[in-house]
Amino acid sequence: MAKISVLNNLSAEHAGRESPLYPLIAAKTERSAGVPFEGDIFWPACWWGLDRSAVFTRADNEMQQAALAACTRGLLNEAYFIEKSGLAYSAKMVLVAPSTDAAQLYAFIGADEARHLAWLEPFVAADDKTRPQGAFLSFLSSLIEECPPEVMIYLVQVILEGWGIDHYRRLSDGCTHPALAAILRNILKDEALHHRSGVLQHEAVTLIGDNRHMVADALKSYADMVRVGPQNALAAVDAAFCGLTVEERTEVVRALGHETETPRKLALLKELMLQPGMEEVVGEIDFTPLTSAQAAAFHRETAAAPPQS
Ligand SMILES: [Fe+2]
Ligand SMILES: [Fe+2]
Repeated sequence: MAKISVLNNLSAEHAGRESPLYPLIAAKTERSAGVPFEGDIFWPACWWGLDRSAVFTRADNEMQQAALAACTRGLLNEAYFIEKSGLAYSAKMVLVAPSTDAAQLYAFIGADEARHLAWLEPFVAADDKTRPQGAFLSFLSSLIEECPPEVMIYLVQVILEGWGIDHYRRLSDGCTHPALAAILRNILKDEALHHRSGVLQHEAVTLIGDNRHMVADALKSYADMVRVGPQNALAAVDAAFCGLTVEERTEVVRALGHETETPRKLALLKELMLQPGMEEVVGEIDFTPLTSAQAAAFHRETAAAPPQS
């Protein structure tokens, strides 16, 4: 097997429509990349649950719009960099593939990720394309750079691609921009196939020794990033409102659905982790959500940004 080292260059320049390569990329994306769009809010207050928040509804319209725009920007930033990371993931998996069949599979998955990136790129602010936000994106990058293929198949392809099915479905169902909603629906179909191909290749017997330790640490990190609730959205609202009190943060995190959505997401995460042969390592993971008060305090203490809307 080839010995390679991979750098997932998240801050690589991305000129999009301005690139001399753009016509070639656009010809491969099946829909015109660079579709013009207006506005900066693609998920309304009711999708976030912010219509249930007294803190949000009593704010003036300008602050509400700023918060919703920041929330939208956060979702798009995360999706953009996950797709960008998908390129590095696929490239590494092509080079370390144990068979020609597997190399073919990963080249096709890489083409899907390149298309997803081209579809999303026009919706991402120019400044954001070299600035990944949040702890999850750097964690994903470290997995891609450091883990052997059998570990990545389980951690990235089975768990994260499986997570992506639910995530992109929620995004597409609630998106108010018809072209972006259609893009998200198309991405979701591809992610389901990527997840399925990971499940087919997952072999628990390869996850022993160092691999087992790597997996156990990563599963704990995944669960911990979900247990703390919708920190990205909370941070966006907090910043747009120029700082909330701890009581207000608790009220907002509750309105964002922490007490219903976080347990649902933790159950989904556990189900994805529980592939055959993984019961023991998954049994050691804590899937208990933080209380709303703890989630609000976590935000104040860390300013970290885990992978949740
Ligand atoms: Fe993708
Ligand atoms: Fe994917």
